[in-house]
Amino acid sequence: MATATVPAAENELLYNQVAERIADLIDAGTLRVGQRVPSVRKLSEQMGVSISTVLQAYRLLESRRRIEARPQSGYYVRPPERAKLPTPGQSKPPATPTKVRIVDRVLGVLRATSDPTYVPLGGAIPGADVLPTKQLNRIQAAIARRSPRASNAYDGPSGYRELHVQVARRYLDAGCALSPDDIVSTCGCQEAITLSLRAVAKAGDVIAIDSPAYYGHLQAIESLGMRALEIPTCPGEGMDVGALRAALRQHKVAAVLSITNCQNPLGFIMPDEKKRELVELLAGREIPLIEDDIFGDLAYARPRPKVCKAYDAKGLVLLCSSYSKTLAPGARVGWVAPGRFRERVECLKICTTLATPTLPQMAIAEFLANGGYDQFLRRACATYAEQTRLVSQAVRKYFPPGTKVTDPAGGYVLWVEMPAGTDALALHERAMRERINVAPGPIFSAKGKYANFIRINCGNPFTEEIDRALLTLGRLASA
Ligand SMILES: Cc1ncc(COP(=O)(O)O)c(C=O)c1O
Repeated sequence: MATATVPAAENELLYNQVAERIADLIDAGTLRVGQRVPSVRKLSEQMGVSISTVLQAYRLLESRRRIEARPQSGYYVRPPERAKLPTPGQSKPPATPTKVRIVDRVLGVLRATSDPTYVPLGGAIPGADVLPTKQLNRIQAAIARRSPRASNAYDGPSGYRELHVQVARRYLDAGCALSPDDIVSTCGCQEAITLSLRAVAKAGDVIAIDSPAYYGHLQAIESLGMRALEIPTCPGEGMDVGALRAALRQHKVAAVLSITNCQNPLGFIMPDEKKRELVELLAGREIPLIEDDIFGDLAYARPRPKVCKAYDAKGLVLLCSSYSKTLAPGARVGWVAPGRFRERVECLKICTTLATPTLPQMAIAEFLANGGYDQFLRRACATYAEQTRLVSQAVRKYFPPGTKVTDPAGGYVLWVEMPAGTDALALHERAMRERINVAPGPIFSAKGKYANFIRINCGNPFTEEIDRALLTLGRLASA
């Protein structure tokens, strides 16, 4: 019986036969998912082969992902793995500008986002346990004690200079040589976007946008009475620059508004060459580009990706971001580097919110200056990549055949395409009744496209509650 006496080729044949026998029992349902397969000793006796042959057979089945070893317990049947789901294709939005009417629909998602009784798969919100909240609060309390001016005086309209120094320093990594004087602080990235739109366009003007687009961009366009022109966008590389070029020939476009890194909801990072091409196309026509880089620091691979602003020779790129997705959504610390529109943006800032709260700007500036941010980002990105993978796996397991899902390069949202005919708005309503918040596809389009898509937030740890909620969503999508 000793394997030493069995020639290698014969041994291989033998353990393959044992593995096949077990695989047949799994396929026939005799051994079911989660059940323990016969112990090594027992199978060795039953089949009249050596212990080491059975062990080799089990290792083979393990490498084929049919069974899994559990410490001190034995081998168990694994759930069957479906192949990785395909990703959605490039979008094909209608090539005409349109007024936007999505505010009412978005409100439901946003209200539930701040209600802890809903499972948080709706808003793109970072997980509370990932954020360095205690550290930031300690810094903020210390600043409040030592400098009362942080709350008893207005900050200047451009914002807190030391924050701008830190932002400028960090953007060197994104290929961008900003001066602190180039930057204006804002109340979050949403204000940066709105001020930028107001600085470069007026009511009735056409703004070219990603498709699908972040609904906050659509809301800003809607509230300013502008029109949106959705440009075909590839889930792997971003806005189709050729399609944009064609659209610019047909329509008078006042500005382009796009997320170039870890786009919400698609998760792509636009390649550098394409960023350069986009900037050059717009520079040739003197069209401003409003670039939203709010998720840029959350790219899973280092170094962090460049921004379009890195290629901006004419001051036409208005680069917008905030620390809401990385450090503290409640701090409302954002900023814009508006290029040649700086003065206009500063004037608009004064007549909109006058100044940005000083204390949170000071706290974030100190956190950035003290060197913990890079380490924090490495941890946070690894966590978000893993959470996103787990949610994607659950979608694969629970959603109906034909479902497609994005493979993001950063951030923590997934864009899910369900089979044609699935009604994401109805699914959203039914999910809300089960206290599950999820973002329905049509709020990511000015034309109400993406009827069978949803966006899932993966910012929170993958708990049993989230697994159950995804099972429920899968059931609702299959109904
Ligand atoms: C792409 C994008 N831009 C802007 C914002 C708004 O950012 P803030 O909370 O800093 O205003 C969000 C928030 O979800 C977002 O996802």
